[in-house]
Amino acid sequence: MSLRILALAACAAAALATSVPALSQPAGKLKVGLMLPATGTFAALGNAIENGFKLHVAEQGGKLGGREIEYVKVDDESDPSKATDNVNKLIKRDNVDVIIGTVHSGVAMAMAKAAKESGTMLIVPNAGADAVTGAMCAKNIFRTSFSNWQPGYATGVVAAQKGYKKAVTITWNYAAGSEMVKGFTEAFEKGGGTIAKHLTLPFPNVEFQALLTEVAAQKPDVVFSFFAGGGAVKFVKDYDAAGLKKTVPLMGTGFLTDGTLEAQGDSAQGVITTLHYADGIDTPRNTAFRNKYAVTYKSQPDVYAVQGYDAAQLLAWGLTAVKGDFAQKDAMYFAMNKAVLSSPRGKLAFSTAHNPVQDFYIREVKGKENVSVGIAVKALADPARGCKL
Ligand code: BEZ
Repeated sequence: MSLRILALAACAAAALATSVPALSQPAGKLKVGLMLPATGTFAALGNAIENGFKLHVAEQGGKLGGREIEYVKVDDESDPSKATDNVNKLIKRDNVDVIIGTVHSGVAMAMAKAAKESGTMLIVPNAGADAVTGAMCAKNIFRTSFSNWQPGYATGVVAAQKGYKKAVTITWNYAAGSEMVKGFTEAFEKGGGTIAKHLTLPFPNVEFQALLTEVAAQKPDVVFSFFAGGGAVKFVKDYDAAGLKKTVPLMGTGFLTDGTLEAQGDSAQGVITTLHYADGIDTPRNTAFRNKYAVTYKSQPDVYAVQGYDAAQLLAWGLTAVKGDFAQKDAMYFAMNKAVLSSPRGKLAFSTAHNPVQDFYIREVKGKENVSVGIAVKALADPARGCKL
């Protein structure tokens, strides 16, 4: 073909491209990559998030914003050393449109880096790593859960209000533990308390005995802790078995007793935590969600299920704003930032850093429920330190 013919063909193609109107309803499935733990101490949390996400999609007839949803799944094992490879399977091999994940803060930070570099939309349905909506914040990264600072801070407010003066903290030594302890310490010290000792062990170890002996030796007024999943079950039982429950009140962020009460049994009774969700929130929205979840999955929902459900609601909100046209990224992100979701936890709005601004409930374990006994802090926003958006 001569150069002249090639040039004419290019002009004709360009003219055609500008004269054909854009499709108003883009066809094709939207590829959603679910990167969650299916094995390890957080496996149940990953399962609840997936259930919650899929429940909302099912309620919308299998479509969000008019687009059918196709799933690709990766088990991240809550292992930060495999996180970059795992997220790149979704981004580069599977070419997903959006990633939903994950539970573990260390894994989430690798995901946020990859999402920021590739421009892939990421919605975090649990991991609280402060940096995700702090120094690493980006227009394509959203979170429907919390920052680690938030529940830690709310628990510190409540501990100080209860008049406790001397605390010991105990947690796993990784971002979620250290950031929740930081939030707790900030509020507790502001309220007049002091920290006698910070105790840690590596994630996901559950050999608590030596640390519990140290707690007893310190004789604090209160213990603040962060553990979740299988680790939380063992910690609460060991705390009780060591005889500490009778002498030193145990407090924690709500992950300590969420989705774990069946296994913790009597050991969890009376434990006070704070979280952005409680089992007995008495609203038609929460009741409808809980009933639907129980019927669908033959189990009770927990905070992780709520966060997964809201990740689907947020994606739906963005897609609806652009009539399913995923190419209109900036319009979609703008709409998602302004979203006000009707969440089972209550009204859910987002900060400019894309993190939830939400009420934190004081919860007490009564029977098999984390019952709301008051509000710790209303409309608590993460300080989003280091975020420039
Ligand atoms: C985290 O790693 O961010 C996390 C894990 C489980 C529960 C809450 C937070």
